[in-house]
Amino acid sequence: MATAVRHRLLPVAVNHSFALNSARFNSSLSKFDRTKTYPNEKANGYQPIPLPDLFSIQGKTAICTGITGGLGKSLGLTLAEAGANIVSIQLPGDPELGALEKEVRSFGQKFHHFDCNIGDSVALRKCFTEIWTAGVAPDILLNCAGTNRHGPLETLTDEDINVVIDVNLKGSFVAAQEMAKQLLRNQRPGKIINIGSMTAYQAVWNTSTYAATKAGVVQFTKAFSNELAGRNIQVNCICPGYFTTPMTATLAQHQEYNDFILDRTPAGRWGDPSELRGALLFLASPASNFVTGSSVVVDGGMLGM
Ligand SMILES: NC(=O)c1ccc[n+]([C@@H]2O[C@H](COP(=O)([O-])OP(=O)(O)OC[C@H]3O[C@@H](n4cnc5c(N)ncnc54)[C@H](O)[C@@H]3O)[C@@H](O)[C@H]2O)c1
Repeated sequence: MATAVRHRLLPVAVNHSFALNSARFNSSLSKFDRTKTYPNEKANGYQPIPLPDLFSIQGKTAICTGITGGLGKSLGLTLAEAGANIVSIQLPGDPELGALEKEVRSFGQKFHHFDCNIGDSVALRKCFTEIWTAGVAPDILLNCAGTNRHGPLETLTDEDINVVIDVNLKGSFVAAQEMAKQLLRNQRPGKIINIGSMTAYQAVWNTSTYAATKAGVVQFTKAFSNELAGRNIQVNCICPGYFTTPMTATLAQHQEYNDFILDRTPAGRWGDPSELRGALLFLASPASNFVTGSSVVVDGGMLGM
Protein backbone atom coordinates (compact mmCIF):
# COMPACT_ATOMS: atom_id res chain seq x y z
CA MET A 1 0.00 0.00 0.00
CA ALA A 2 2.74 2.46 1.01
CA THR A 3 4.30 2.31 -2.44
CA ALA A 4 1.10 3.69 -3.99
CA VAL A 5 1.20 6.86 -1.87
CA ARG A 6 2.61 9.89 -3.67
CA HIS A 7 4.57 12.47 -1.74
CA ARG A 8 2.94 15.73 -2.75
CA LEU A 9 6.20 17.73 -2.44
CA LEU A 10 8.23 15.44 -4.70
CA PRO A 11 8.32 15.65 -8.50
CA VAL A 12 6.62 12.83 -10.41
CA ALA A 13 9.92 11.22 -11.43
CA VAL A 14 11.10 11.07 -7.82
CA ASN A 15 7.76 9.65 -6.67
CA HIS A 16 8.00 7.05 -9.39
CA SER A 17 11.52 6.00 -8.40
CA PHE A 18 10.52 6.07 -4.72
CA ALA A 19 7.67 3.69 -5.47
CA LEU A 20 9.96 1.42 -7.51
CA ASN A 21 12.67 1.43 -4.85
CA SER A 22 10.15 0.76 -2.10
CA ALA A 23 8.77 -2.16 -4.05
CA ARG A 24 12.28 -3.53 -4.62
CA PHE A 25 13.17 -3.02 -0.96
CA ASN A 26 10.04 -4.82 0.26
CA SER A 27 10.43 -7.74 -2.12
CA SER A 28 14.13 -8.14 -1.29
CA LEU A 29 13.67 -8.10 2.49
CA SER A 30 13.20 -11.85 2.75
CA LYS A 31 16.31 -12.44 0.61
CA PHE A 32 18.54 -10.19 2.72
CA ASP A 33 21.42 -12.23 4.10
CA ARG A 34 23.54 -10.50 6.75
CA THR A 35 26.44 -12.86 6.17
CA LYS A 36 27.09 -11.31 2.73
CA THR A 37 28.30 -7.88 1.63
CA TYR A 38 26.05 -6.22 -0.93
CA PRO A 39 27.42 -3.80 -3.57
CA ASN A 40 25.30 -0.84 -2.41
CA GLU A 41 26.81 -1.08 1.08
CA LYS A 42 29.76 0.84 -0.39
CA ALA A 43 27.49 3.91 0.01
CA ASN A 44 27.58 5.14 -3.57
CA GLY A 45 31.34 5.30 -3.83
CA TYR A 46 32.04 7.27 -0.64
CA GLN A 47 35.73 6.89 0.12
CA PRO A 48 36.47 6.23 3.82
CA ILE A 49 38.59 8.96 5.42
CA PRO A 50 41.99 7.62 6.54
CA LEU A 51 42.11 7.55 10.35
CA PRO A 52 44.84 10.23 10.74
CA ASP A 53 42.63 12.69 8.77
CA LEU A 54 39.32 11.77 10.37
CA PHE A 55 39.25 14.65 12.87
CA SER A 56 41.58 16.96 10.96
CA ILE A 57 40.65 20.58 10.19
CA GLN A 58 44.20 21.58 9.28
CA GLY A 59 44.25 24.56 6.87
CA LYS A 60 40.48 25.18 7.10
CA THR A 61 38.98 28.60 7.71
CA ALA A 62 36.42 29.03 10.46
CA ILE A 63 34.11 32.01 10.80
CA CYS A 64 33.09 32.33 14.43
CA THR A 65 30.70 34.47 16.46
CA GLY A 66 30.85 34.81 20.23
CA ILE A 67 34.40 33.54 20.64
CA THR A 68 35.38 36.26 23.08
CA GLY A 69 33.01 34.70 25.66
CA GLY A 70 33.39 31.88 28.14
CA LEU A 71 32.49 28.89 25.97
CA GLY A 72 33.31 30.57 22.66
CA LYS A 73 36.89 31.37 23.54
CA SER A 74 37.61 27.75 24.39
CA LEU A 75 35.87 26.62 21.19
CA GLY A 76 37.54 29.21 18.94
CA LEU A 77 40.96 28.39 20.34
CA THR A 78 40.27 24.67 19.84
CA LEU A 79 39.68 25.31 16.14
CA ALA A 80 42.89 27.37 15.95
CA GLU A 81 44.95 24.80 17.85
CA ALA A 82 43.61 22.10 15.49
CA GLY A 83 44.92 24.08 12.52
CA ALA A 84 42.11 26.38 11.36
CA ASN A 85 42.47 30.07 10.51
CA ILE A 86 39.97 32.18 12.43
CA VAL A 87 37.63 34.95 11.32
CA SER A 88 35.93 36.45 14.38
CA ILE A 89 32.73 38.47 14.36
CA GLN A 90 32.42 40.34 17.65
CA LEU A 91 30.67 43.34 19.17
CA PRO A 92 32.37 46.70 18.47
CA GLY A 93 34.89 47.54 21.21
CA ASP A 94 34.96 44.01 22.64
CA PRO A 95 37.68 44.20 25.35
CA GLU A 96 38.60 40.51 24.93
CA LEU A 97 39.51 40.83 21.24
CA GLY A 98 43.23 41.60 21.70
CA ALA A 99 43.82 38.62 23.99
CA LEU A 100 41.90 36.33 21.63
CA GLU A 101 43.94 37.45 18.62
CA LYS A 102 47.20 36.89 20.51
CA GLU A 103 46.22 33.35 21.48
CA VAL A 104 45.01 32.40 18.00
CA ARG A 105 48.25 33.69 16.48
CA SER A 106 50.28 31.76 19.10
CA PHE A 107 49.07 28.59 17.34
CA GLY A 108 50.47 29.91 14.04
CA GLN A 109 47.04 30.63 12.55
CA LYS A 110 45.77 33.70 10.71
CA PHE A 111 43.27 35.89 12.53
CA HIS A 112 40.82 38.37 11.00
CA HIS A 113 38.09 40.19 12.83
CA PHE A 114 34.94 42.10 11.94
CA ASP A 115 32.78 44.19 14.28
CA CYS A 116 29.05 43.52 14.30
CA ASN A 117 26.07 43.35 16.60
CA ILE A 118 24.66 40.08 15.35
CA GLY A 119 21.25 41.00 16.70
CA ASP A 120 21.02 43.52 13.84
CA SER A 121 20.34 41.33 10.80
CA VAL A 122 20.93 44.12 8.27
CA ALA A 123 24.36 44.83 9.78
CA LEU A 124 25.10 41.10 9.97
CA ARG A 125 24.40 40.52 6.28
CA LYS A 126 26.60 43.53 5.48
CA CYS A 127 29.34 42.07 7.70
CA PHE A 128 29.28 38.78 5.76
CA THR A 129 29.52 40.72 2.48
CA GLU A 130 32.62 42.47 3.88
CA ILE A 131 34.08 39.09 4.86
CA TRP A 132 33.59 37.70 1.33
CA THR A 133 34.92 40.93 -0.21
CA ALA A 134 38.06 40.53 1.92
CA GLY A 135 38.62 37.19 0.14
CA VAL A 136 37.75 34.78 2.94
CA ALA A 137 37.00 31.27 1.61
CA PRO A 138 35.05 29.64 4.44
CA ASP A 139 34.88 26.01 5.51
CA ILE A 140 33.34 26.15 8.98
CA LEU A 141 30.85 28.44 10.74
CA LEU A 142 30.72 28.37 14.53
CA ASN A 143 27.58 30.20 15.64
CA CYS A 144 28.31 30.76 19.33
CA ALA A 145 27.20 34.32 20.19
CA GLY A 146 24.33 34.33 22.62
CA THR A 147 22.68 36.30 25.35
CA ASN A 148 20.06 35.92 28.06
CA ARG A 149 17.65 38.07 30.04
CA HIS A 150 16.66 36.14 33.14
CA GLY A 151 13.43 36.84 34.89
CA PRO A 152 9.93 35.58 35.66
CA LEU A 153 7.83 35.73 32.50
CA GLU A 154 5.52 38.41 33.88
CA THR A 155 8.48 40.80 34.19
CA LEU A 156 9.89 40.40 30.67
CA THR A 157 9.56 43.52 28.51
CA ASP A 158 9.36 43.65 24.72
CA GLU A 159 12.94 44.88 24.73
CA ASP A 160 14.09 41.84 26.79
CA ILE A 161 12.27 39.46 24.44
CA ASN A 162 13.49 41.17 21.26
CA VAL A 163 17.15 41.20 22.29
CA VAL A 164 17.23 37.48 23.10
CA ILE A 165 15.32 36.51 19.96
CA ASP A 166 17.37 38.81 17.72
CA VAL A 167 20.74 37.60 18.97
CA ASN A 168 20.16 33.91 19.75
CA LEU A 169 17.69 32.95 17.06
CA LYS A 170 17.63 35.49 14.25
CA GLY A 171 21.36 36.26 14.47
CA SER A 172 22.34 32.58 14.36
CA PHE A 173 19.82 31.91 11.59
CA VAL A 174 21.05 34.78 9.40
CA ALA A 175 24.72 33.88 9.96
CA ALA A 176 24.00 30.25 8.97
CA GLN A 177 22.01 31.46 5.96
CA GLU A 178 24.77 33.80 4.74
CA MET A 179 27.37 31.06 5.21
CA ALA A 180 25.22 28.54 3.32
CA LYS A 181 24.62 30.98 0.46
CA GLN A 182 28.35 31.54 0.04
CA LEU A 183 29.16 27.82 0.16
CA LEU A 184 26.46 27.11 -2.44
CA ARG A 185 27.62 29.98 -4.69
CA ASN A 186 31.15 28.59 -4.65
CA GLN A 187 30.17 24.91 -4.64
CA ARG A 188 32.19 24.33 -1.47
CA PRO A 189 31.50 21.67 1.14
CA GLY A 190 31.16 23.02 4.65
CA LYS A 191 30.25 22.61 8.27
CA ILE A 192 27.81 24.82 10.15
CA ILE A 193 27.83 24.35 13.90
CA ASN A 194 25.21 26.13 15.96
CA ILE A 195 25.32 26.44 19.72
CA GLY A 196 21.93 25.61 21.16
CA SER A 197 21.33 24.68 24.77
CA MET A 198 19.93 21.91 26.89
CA THR A 199 17.10 24.34 27.65
CA ALA A 200 15.85 23.63 24.12
CA TYR A 201 14.67 20.32 25.58
CA GLN A 202 14.30 20.99 29.30
CA ALA A 203 13.19 24.52 30.15
CA VAL A 204 13.72 25.85 33.65
CA TRP A 205 12.13 28.83 35.38
CA ASN A 206 13.13 32.41 34.52
CA THR A 207 14.59 31.56 31.11
CA SER A 208 11.48 31.42 28.94
CA THR A 209 12.67 33.57 26.03
CA TYR A 210 16.11 31.97 26.08
CA ALA A 211 14.67 28.43 26.07
CA ALA A 212 12.34 29.32 23.19
CA THR A 213 15.20 30.72 21.10
CA LYS A 214 17.40 27.69 21.72
CA ALA A 215 14.59 25.32 20.71
CA GLY A 216 14.39 27.43 17.55
CA VAL A 217 18.12 26.94 16.96
CA VAL A 218 17.72 23.15 17.27
CA GLN A 219 14.83 23.21 14.81
CA PHE A 220 16.41 25.49 12.18
CA THR A 221 19.49 23.25 12.37
CA LYS A 222 17.30 20.38 11.20
CA ALA A 223 15.54 22.48 8.56
CA PHE A 224 18.83 23.76 7.10
CA SER A 225 20.29 20.25 7.10
CA ASN A 226 17.44 19.02 4.89
CA GLU A 227 18.20 21.61 2.24
CA LEU A 228 21.98 21.35 2.38
CA ALA A 229 22.74 17.66 2.93
CA GLY A 230 22.79 16.89 -0.79
CA ARG A 231 25.30 19.69 -1.34
CA ASN A 232 27.81 18.24 1.12
CA ILE A 233 27.19 20.88 3.78
CA GLN A 234 26.49 19.51 7.25
CA VAL A 235 24.52 21.56 9.77
CA ASN A 236 24.58 20.45 13.39
CA CYS A 237 24.13 21.81 16.85
CA ILE A 238 25.86 21.45 20.20
CA CYS A 239 23.54 21.74 23.20
CA PRO A 240 25.55 22.45 26.35
CA GLY A 241 24.15 21.84 29.80
CA TYR A 242 25.46 24.09 32.58
CA PHE A 243 28.99 25.42 32.14
CA THR A 244 30.82 28.00 34.19
CA THR A 245 31.13 31.18 32.10
CA PRO A 246 30.34 34.89 32.52
CA MET A 247 26.80 34.14 31.26
CA THR A 248 26.10 31.73 34.10
CA ALA A 249 28.18 33.44 36.82
CA THR A 250 25.15 34.90 38.61
CA LEU A 251 23.36 31.52 38.54
CA ALA A 252 26.36 29.78 40.06
CA GLN A 253 26.39 32.33 42.91
CA HIS A 254 22.69 31.79 43.61
CA GLN A 255 22.63 29.05 46.27
CA GLU A 256 19.20 27.61 45.42
CA TYR A 257 19.87 27.57 41.68
CA ASN A 258 23.34 26.12 42.12
CA ASP A 259 21.93 23.33 44.35
CA PHE A 260 19.24 22.63 41.75
CA ILE A 261 21.82 22.28 38.99
CA LEU A 262 24.12 20.05 41.02
CA ASP A 263 21.20 17.86 42.19
CA ARG A 264 19.88 17.45 38.64
CA THR A 265 23.26 16.79 36.98
CA PRO A 266 24.22 13.10 37.37
CA ALA A 267 27.89 14.04 36.93
CA GLY A 268 27.41 16.17 40.07
CA ARG A 269 29.19 19.27 38.82
CA TRP A 270 29.18 22.13 36.34
CA GLY A 271 30.86 21.53 33.00
CA ASP A 272 34.20 23.04 32.08
CA PRO A 273 34.23 24.87 28.70
CA SER A 274 37.06 22.58 27.53
CA GLU A 275 34.62 19.65 27.71
CA LEU A 276 32.86 20.87 24.56
CA ARG A 277 35.99 20.53 22.45
CA GLY A 278 35.41 16.90 21.46
CA ALA A 279 31.90 17.55 20.15
CA LEU A 280 33.17 20.59 18.25
CA LEU A 281 36.04 18.77 16.55
CA PHE A 282 33.72 15.92 15.62
CA LEU A 283 31.20 18.27 13.99
CA ALA A 284 33.86 20.45 12.31
CA SER A 285 35.83 17.59 10.77
CA PRO A 286 35.30 14.80 8.19
CA ALA A 287 34.40 12.49 11.09
CA SER A 288 30.85 13.88 10.86
CA ASN A 289 30.42 13.82 7.07
CA PHE A 290 27.23 11.72 7.35
CA VAL A 291 25.94 13.51 10.46
CA THR A 292 23.61 16.40 9.79
CA GLY A 293 20.58 17.96 11.45
CA SER A 294 21.60 16.51 14.78
CA SER A 295 22.15 18.02 18.20
CA VAL A 296 24.92 16.77 20.44
CA VAL A 297 23.91 17.27 24.06
CA VAL A 298 26.87 17.78 26.40
CA ASP A 299 25.35 18.09 29.87
CA GLY A 300 26.86 15.65 32.38
CA GLY A 301 23.74 13.50 31.99
CA MET A 302 21.10 16.06 33.01
CA LEU A 303 18.80 15.35 30.08
CA GLY A 304 18.88 11.65 30.87
CA MET A 305 17.31 12.23 34.30
N1 LIG B 1 27.41 28.80 29.68
C1 LIG B 1 26.50 27.85 29.61
O1 LIG B 1 26.27 27.10 30.55
C2 LIG B 1 25.72 27.67 28.33
C3 LIG B 1 24.81 26.61 28.28
C4 LIG B 1 24.11 26.39 27.12
C5 LIG B 1 24.31 27.21 26.02
N2 LIG B 1 25.20 28.24 26.11
C6 LIG B 1 25.37 29.05 24.89
O2 LIG B 1 26.74 29.10 24.55
C7 LIG B 1 27.01 30.32 23.88
C8 LIG B 1 28.15 31.03 24.58
O3 LIG B 1 27.74 31.30 25.91
P1 LIG B 1 28.77 31.72 27.05
O4 LIG B 1 28.34 31.02 28.27
O5 LIG B 1 30.15 31.60 26.58
O6 LIG B 1 28.35 33.25 27.23
P2 LIG B 1 29.26 34.55 27.31
O7 LIG B 1 28.34 35.61 27.80
O8 LIG B 1 30.50 34.27 28.08
O9 LIG B 1 29.65 34.81 25.79
C9 LIG B 1 28.72 35.27 24.85
C10 LIG B 1 29.45 35.71 23.62
O10 LIG B 1 28.49 36.21 22.67
C11 LIG B 1 28.86 37.53 22.30
N3 LIG B 1 27.68 38.33 22.01
C12 LIG B 1 26.62 38.54 22.83
N4 LIG B 1 25.74 39.37 22.24
C13 LIG B 1 26.25 39.66 21.01
C14 LIG B 1 25.81 40.45 19.92
N5 LIG B 1 24.65 41.13 19.98
N6 LIG B 1 26.58 40.53 18.82
C15 LIG B 1 27.76 39.86 18.74
N7 LIG B 1 28.23 39.10 19.74
C16 LIG B 1 27.49 39.00 20.85
C17 LIG B 1 29.61 38.07 23.52
O11 LIG B 1 30.38 39.20 23.19
C18 LIG B 1 30.44 36.85 23.88
O12 LIG B 1 31.54 36.73 23.02
C19 LIG B 1 25.71 31.10 23.87
O13 LIG B 1 25.03 30.90 22.66
C20 LIG B 1 24.94 30.48 25.02
O14 LIG B 1 23.56 30.66 24.88
C21 LIG B 1 25.91 28.49 27.23
